[in-house]
Amino acid sequence: MKRAITLWSESGGVGKTTMATNVSAALGRQDERVLVIDLDPQLGSLTDHVGYQELKTGDRDHLGHVLLDDEKDIRSLIVETEDFDLVPSHEGLANIESEMAARNTSLREFQLRSALKSVAGEYDYFIIDPPATLNVLVDNALVAARNVLIPIELTRKGSISIEGLEDTLDSMERGFKKFDDSFELGILAVVPNEVGDSNIYRDTREELETDGKPVTPFGVRKRDVLKEAWKNQMNLFEFAESDETRDLREYEGDLLANFEQLARIVQQGTVDAVEVEA
Ligand SMILES: Nc1ncnc2c1ncn2[C@@H]1O[C@H](COP(=O)(O)OP(=O)(O)O)[C@@H](O)[C@H]1O
Ligand SMILES: [Mg+2]
Repeated sequence: MKRAITLWSESGGVGKTTMATNVSAALGRQDERVLVIDLDPQLGSLTDHVGYQELKTGDRDHLGHVLLDDEKDIRSLIVETEDFDLVPSHEGLANIESEMAARNTSLREFQLRSALKSVAGEYDYFIIDPPATLNVLVDNALVAARNVLIPIELTRKGSISIEGLEDTLDSMERGFKKFDDSFELGILAVVPNEVGDSNIYRDTREELETDGKPVTPFGVRKRDVLKEAWKNQMNLFEFAESDETRDLREYEGDLLANFEQLARIVQQGTVDAVEVEA
C-alpha cells in the first residue's frame, strides 16, 4: 500500500463523498489498485452514490462487525465497482459508538487501521469516506489514513473552518501520539469545491495561500453534472462515457481533469504535484 487518505470537513455537504468517489475512480483508471472504505451509515453515502445501497440494510455481515471483532476479516465485505473496490457502509454503523462502549472495545480509534492490515498488500491506495458527524468513525478514518484532503467552500466561512480543522487535527495528533509515538496527521491538500467566477473565490484563495495552506491551484467548479452522475449511480468518468449522444464533454472535461490532478496529488503526496494555473 502506497498511501491512505481520508476526506474531512466540519460541515456536511461540502463534497467529501463526491471527491472521494471521483478521485478513487481517477486513480483506478490509472491502474492503481484502490480500496474505498465507506464509513457513512446515512443516506447519501458513497455506497449509495455508486449503486450498492441494498448492501446498507438488512441482516448481513458489515463493517461494524469487523470494527467490533478482530477475528472478522474485512476482505469478505469487498465489492467491485467500475473503477475501484469498495467496502460498503451499513446502517448498523450508526450504533458503533455505543456498541464499542458496551463491549469495552480497547483502542477504539485504531480498529479500522488494524482491520485494513490484512488487505494492505493487495491495494495501492485506501480512500476512506467518513460520516458527517464527528464520532468514533471519524477518529477511525483519521487514524487509518493519516493524510487528509479537505474540501472547502471558498468563502469566509470556508477559510475560518480551516483554522478550526487544523486545531482539531493538532489536538487529535497529540492524543493519538500517546498510543503511537510516530503518529502524525497531515493535511495533504485543501481543495476548493463548488467554485464559481465571483471575486470572493479569488480573494479567499489568495488569503489561504498567504497563510501557507496547501490549497490546490485549481478549484472544482459547481456543476450539476456531478449530481446527475450521482443520480445515475456512476462516478463521473463512467457517466461521461455512458451516453455518447449527450453533449456533456465540453463542460465536464475540466471536472475530469481536476479529479485527475487530485489523483496526482494523492500519488505524489504533495499539493505541488500539479502546476499552478494562470
Ligand atoms: N462541485 C460540485 N458542483 C455541484 N454539485 C456538487 C459539487 N460537489 C458536490 N456536489 C453535490 O453536493 C451534494 C453534497 O455533496 P457530498 O459529496 O455528498 O458532500 P459530503 O460528503 O461532504 O456531505 C451532492 O448532491 C453532490 O452531488
Ligand atoms: Mg459524504
